[in-house]
Amino acid sequence: MSFSGESTELRKRPVNGDGGVVVEEEKGVQMKKNVGLISGTSVIVGTIIGSGIFISPKGVLSETGSVGLSLVVWAAGGVLSLLGSLSYAELGTLITKSGGEYPYIWEGLGRILAYLFAWTKVIVLTPSSAAIITLTFAEYVVSFFDFCGYPQVPPKIIAATAMITLAIINCWDTKLAAQIQVLFTAAKLIALIIIIVGGLVWLGQGDNLCNVSTLQKGFEGTTSSPSGVALAFYDALWAYDGWNNLNYITEELRNPYVNLPRANVIGVLLVTVVYVLANISYLVVLGTDGLLNSSAVATWGEEVLGKAGIIMPIFVLFSTFGAANGSLFAGVRTLYAAAREDQFPEILSYVNVKRYTPVPCIIFTDYNRTVNVDTWGYRKFNRFFSFAAWLFYALAIVSLIVLRFTRKDDHRPIKVFILLPIIFLLCSIYLVIAPIIQDPRIEFLYAFLFIVGGLLLYFPLVHFKLHKGCFDPVTTVLQLILEVAPSPYVPD
Ligand code: ARG
Repeated sequence: MSFSGESTELRKRPVNGDGGVVVEEEKGVQMKKNVGLISGTSVIVGTIIGSGIFISPKGVLSETGSVGLSLVVWAAGGVLSLLGSLSYAELGTLITKSGGEYPYIWEGLGRILAYLFAWTKVIVLTPSSAAIITLTFAEYVVSFFDFCGYPQVPPKIIAATAMITLAIINCWDTKLAAQIQVLFTAAKLIALIIIIVGGLVWLGQGDNLCNVSTLQKGFEGTTSSPSGVALAFYDALWAYDGWNNLNYITEELRNPYVNLPRANVIGVLLVTVVYVLANISYLVVLGTDGLLNSSAVATWGEEVLGKAGIIMPIFVLFSTFGAANGSLFAGVRTLYAAAREDQFPEILSYVNVKRYTPVPCIIFTDYNRTVNVDTWGYRKFNRFFSFAAWLFYALAIVSLIVLRFTRKDDHRPIKVFILLPIIFLLCSIYLVIAPIIQDPRIEFLYAFLFIVGGLLLYFPLVHFKLHKGCFDPVTTVLQLILEVAPSPYVPD
């Protein structure tokens, strides 16, 4: 299977004996298939559950105005993510290349839109999501240091240290990165199970102990503003983001035709149930006022667990660290895939010949996200993240529909009922357009110009290849230093 119109002939730039590296010229170096059903599901669950479920409930409640609508928004966010992950199961088993939306948009809508996706993902989406998650991690580390009476360290330094540590792990061993993902996913699920069980126990105690009456308020106080509902969805959908992450590493997945759809569905269903129940628990224990005026997890921990409540913020540390790992693990594969198709410098698609990890693209991505931690961080970029992310989810679904016509006879191990992607597409269009109509801020124009601005590099460097040969000496030197070699696509 190849991208239409693009040669799949292997690029030969083998490192010879001088570098101590032996590369089989015809095959290049292939990354190992280290991800199975459990680690695949962990990539999804462990990236989705990050910072959002610990910080968004307050926002969703205040923007919807009522307990009833806030729970509906949490459930609907899960259903929308499920529609997305079912549609991506079709895409990922039809086109088994890594890189997420990149190969799908290429096949369905052409190489220019695929490039614009890769450009936006590499320069902004991956670094900004990492910055938001690791800064949340850093805030909790700072409050923990504070609690223990240790001297303060600036959050930026803590966030950067976390990112560099994760980059080293991901360069060292994909298997280790996958194991870390499983471990941290288990830790965050334990935290959420404690929250859910604690909530149920309180609920069982009746009104004298908990805020059962909070739940009975139902839809009382519901906002009448459509923009309030849209904002609530943005908060909840940030907490659900990451449902598509396994599609970024399809080539490293064992038996992708079975494991991709299974992990996609199991992961999203599990998170949806956990999110709705965790919100019920927050409401039952803290009441609406308590939830609106506190840091949900910490106060919940103090109320239900007393002194032992200190473990809850520690679980948030695990949760955010694990999500940052999943985000890096999957996020770099778009750059790898785009560089392999000559849309980014070739060296970024090379793989270390000893560790079988995409070292150059991990280093580039980590450098970009670490130096920009300040620019992208602190949720001020959340709006741009949602705008751009949903724009490209929509384009991937348009590709699914186009491919139903252009490749209608291809074997599809999974073929979803067409109404599901269409509903998802309509919701994504709403999520892209609604904030612009409600609050037409200049930032959206900048965001759009930034995305399209990628073309300024596309035409000279990708289309006309004006730089041809200029980077070869750099590529060769980096190849020797990093011990990397080409890694062409090999179909399953
Ligand atoms: N859902 C995650 C959270 O609540 C954020 C995921 C960001 N997206 C991604 N593809 N890494 O923190």
